[in-house]
Formats: sequence, structure tokens, C-alpha cells
Amino acid sequence: MTVAALALENITCTFAARDNRAQRYTAVKDTTLRIEPGEFVSVVGPTGCGKSTLLNIGAGLLQPSAGTVSVFGEPLNALNRRAGYMFQADALMPWRSAIDNVMAGLSFHGVPPAEARAQADEWLKRVGLGGFGDRYPHQLSGGMRKRVAMAQTLILDPDIILMDEPFSALDIQTRQLMENELLELWAAKRKAVLFITHDLDEAIAMSDRVVVLSAGPGTHPIGEFRIDLPRPRDVAEIRAHPRFVELHAQIWSVLRDEVLKGYRQQLTAV
Ligand SMILES: Nc1ncnc2c1ncn2[C@@H]1O[C@H](COP(=O)(O)OP(=O)(O)OP(=O)(O)O)[C@@H](O)[C@H]1O
Ligand SMILES: [Mg+2]
Repeated sequence: MTVAALALENITCTFAARDNRAQRYTAVKDTTLRIEPGEFVSVVGPTGCGKSTLLNIGAGLLQPSAGTVSVFGEPLNALNRRAGYMFQADALMPWRSAIDNVMAGLSFHGVPPAEARAQADEWLKRVGLGGFGDRYPHQLSGGMRKRVAMAQTLILDPDIILMDEPFSALDIQTRQLMENELLELWAAKRKAVLFITHDLDEAIAMSDRVVVLSAGPGTHPIGEFRIDLPRPRDVAEIRAHPRFVELHAQIWSVLRDEVLKGYRQQLTAV
């Protein structure tokens, strides 16, 4: 067996319950998730099931209550320095221009300013924003801000890329453009990707493997599907592929009941 880029093993994560601090809520239970080097894995599951929790554990931002995390075979017990992280919400610094946002990580790692700026400029061009470097986040569209965030994450050339519903706030056309862009960048470098989404179409179109999580409490994987669609893929066109339709039907039959369960739980929790 090869050494996984990221291995979450028998992870359980409990939180103090909202209404009664003495009680514990088990968000994730006994979950194992391995991502091989170069593999693109999506995790889908109903809202509130524990997707972000798993990602935060993989990033080293959250300590599991039980289980182990290892990164290329090494146990993780602090921040995961081999991972780059792209949040669901906008995480740009509003007081910095686009180029300053993109070069921030390099500067933090001690790269001299001229060198950092040159690399950031290169990355802005790569995500289609050459010439927008001096704009501030509020002067950019939502899609442009996501591109800046993508450049900001990828410029550090992380071996593992963790993405938490990075494109969910975008309109469908922009989203498909960004998905294709990400796939192109990924194909060039073949880093391990853990991609969280609640959109099954997106998960299938992008991934090598899709993992389905159950509704909480005690979320755990209930299905795993290898996506044997040809690459390179165009995320819009691949949806018409007969194998895509087949995989979608298979995975949806597992996911559907969990989505309904998750939705009902949120209604009763309000
Ligand atoms: N710090 C925390 N304290 C208490 N409960 C938490 C904490 N973080 C998450 N939870 C709970 O754990 C469960 C899983 O949350 P998580 O954010 O991982 O869900 P998710 O699958 O990412 O949902 P969404 O699709 O809506 O983003 C939820 O019930 C949430 O309320
Ligand atoms: Mg989430």
C-alpha cells in the first residue's frame, strides 16, 4: 500500500451540545478517509453532516476526539503545513490589493518582496486576472475574488489542497469556468485534493473518487465510488456522458435518503 497524502483514521469528533453543555454531540463517528498522492477526492453529504469538521481536522485546525491523522505517513499534531486551504467564505484581506493577497503567503515564508511579487503576478495571469493586481477585493466580482483566493492557495504549491465548497456561491457559468480552471491547474501538478461539496454533479465531474457521508449525528461514510470517466474533462460536457449519468443515478440513490434525513433534522432543531 502506498503512503497516503492524507489519512484520517477512525476519526470521531464530538462537540458540547448547544442546549445543554453537559451533553455531547457526536458530529463524526469512526470515519476513515484516505487520499492518495495526486488523487482528487470529493466528499458529499447533507448539510450539517460534518464535512467541514473533517476538512478542519485534516488541516490540523481541529483536534479529533478519537482517531489519528497522518500526512504522508507522519502523524499530524499541529497545523498541516503541507496543505493549502480554500474556505467556503471569502478569505481575502480587504485592506490588501489582489496581488498583495496572492503574495501574502510567500512573504510570510520569507520570500524576498520582488520575487514574491513576480510569482504572484504570474499566478494572477494564470487565473485570468493579469492586470487586476492593484484592485482591492471590494473592486472585484465574486468570481474574481474566488480566482484570487485560488491563486493565493496554489502559489504556495501545497502537496495537499483542501477546499470547502469553494465555488458554491458562484453562478453556474462562472462556477463551471472555475471548475475547469481548477482541473487544468490540478492536471499540471497532480496534487492530492480533498474537495467538499454538496453538489453531486460537481463532485462527479471533478473527481477520481466520491465519498458519500451519512446524515448526522454520528456521520460516517456510507458509500464510495470510483469515477472512471476519461480525463481531461470539461465539467459542462462530461455531464452528458452516459457513464456520468449512470454514476449519478448510483450515487444519488445512496445520497437521497441522507439529504432528506439531514433536512428534517435541521427543521426539528430550529
Ligand atoms: N465548534 C462546534 N461546536 C459545536 N458544534 C459544532 C461545531 N462545529 C460543528 N458543529 C456541529 O457539527 C455538525 C457538523 O458541522 P459541519 O460544519 O462539519 O457540517 P457541514 O457538513 O460542513 O455542513 P454544511 O454543508 O452546512 O457546510 C453540525 O451539527 C454542527 O452544528
Ligand atoms: Mg461546511
